[in-house]
Amino acid sequence: MKALILSGGKGTRLRPLTYTGAKQLVPVANKPILWYGIESIVDAGITDIGIVISPETGEEIQEITGNGDHFGAKITYILQEHPLGLAHAVKVAQPFLGDSPFIMYLGDNLIQDSLKPFFSKFKEEHLDGLILLRQVSNPSAFGVAKIDKKGRVLKLVEKPKDPPSNLALVGVYFFSPAIHQAIGSIVPSDRGELEITDAIQELINTEKNVESLQLNGWWLDTGKKDDLLEANRIILDTDLEISKGGNIDEKSQVIGRVNIGEGSKIINSTVRGPVIIGQDCHIENCFIGPYTSVGDQVTLIDADIEHSVLLEGSQILEIHQRIVDSLIGRRAKLEMAHQRPKALQFMIGDDSQIELV
Ligand code: G1P
Repeated sequence: MKALILSGGKGTRLRPLTYTGAKQLVPVANKPILWYGIESIVDAGITDIGIVISPETGEEIQEITGNGDHFGAKITYILQEHPLGLAHAVKVAQPFLGDSPFIMYLGDNLIQDSLKPFFSKFKEEHLDGLILLRQVSNPSAFGVAKIDKKGRVLKLVEKPKDPPSNLALVGVYFFSPAIHQAIGSIVPSDRGELEITDAIQELINTEKNVESLQLNGWWLDTGKKDDLLEANRIILDTDLEISKGGNIDEKSQVIGRVNIGEGSKIINSTVRGPVIIGQDCHIENCFIGPYTSVGDQVTLIDADIEHSVLLEGSQILEIHQRIVDSLIGRRAKLEMAHQRPKALQFMIGDDSQIELV
């Protein structure tokens, strides 16, 4: 059994963050989203992993994720020159996959469930395809499945205007090598991509054994800001280890589940968990409220922030209003020049969003 993680794409919905970096490397609780998928695959006992990358962000993904040693796995990187669809990525990865069955995992998806029971069903029942489904309120944004009472898949449609059910296809699939022939028989969709959804439909049309299971736990497709903040909230709630490295002065209060990295200084501040603070941060006269992740080398002075994600090297200086539900990019700087500003002055990159609420 092998694994194929798809980590290409342009990440248009997380712009501007994804102009300068891969969407799969945006951190959730200070760990790249992609790494959660790798860990979950390794936990299911699969260690031969291929990661499909794009020319734009592939180098950064390789640099940060490495050869797999960190995860107890072997990682092979596979370049997909053009974003021509998920099924196209499988085509490009065929030399890596050979005749092996494999799990395909979209690098920006996060699921709570362990992969083990799904993998067992796939193996024991000798399936050609096993898809995972989750009820959603907006099925038109996803691939959608129509299933019978036993979970056998009758029909799949990609982003339908008129969805046949509210069961969305989660970005985690198990395939036998029969998928390669199915991919060979499909043509690009209206959006010009070879859709994996169409390839699975082709498996069904040729009477291969395709089944589905529904997830029990949460599923987040982290491609958008609110989903990313929600993923951050859930991971901080369920997975955060308490550790108080760094230097906390006696005027500070650190309450609840908080993880502070080495070399960080907390001065005259209150940190109310769950909160993670990276390494070498400077935090002074601040309130940092629940569900906040602060990356490495962040400087916060006279700031009040909660339910937010701050990336590496960002700075917030003397903003006295509370900052909530925010995603602050690498090395971004927010600063209040005067106590009561008469005007607001900005230098804002393309596609940035600022709400003064
Ligand atoms: C892809 C799949 C879709 C699936 C979704 C899950 O969509 O095509 O069927 O429901 O991932 O994240 P995309 O994210 O490429 O729009």
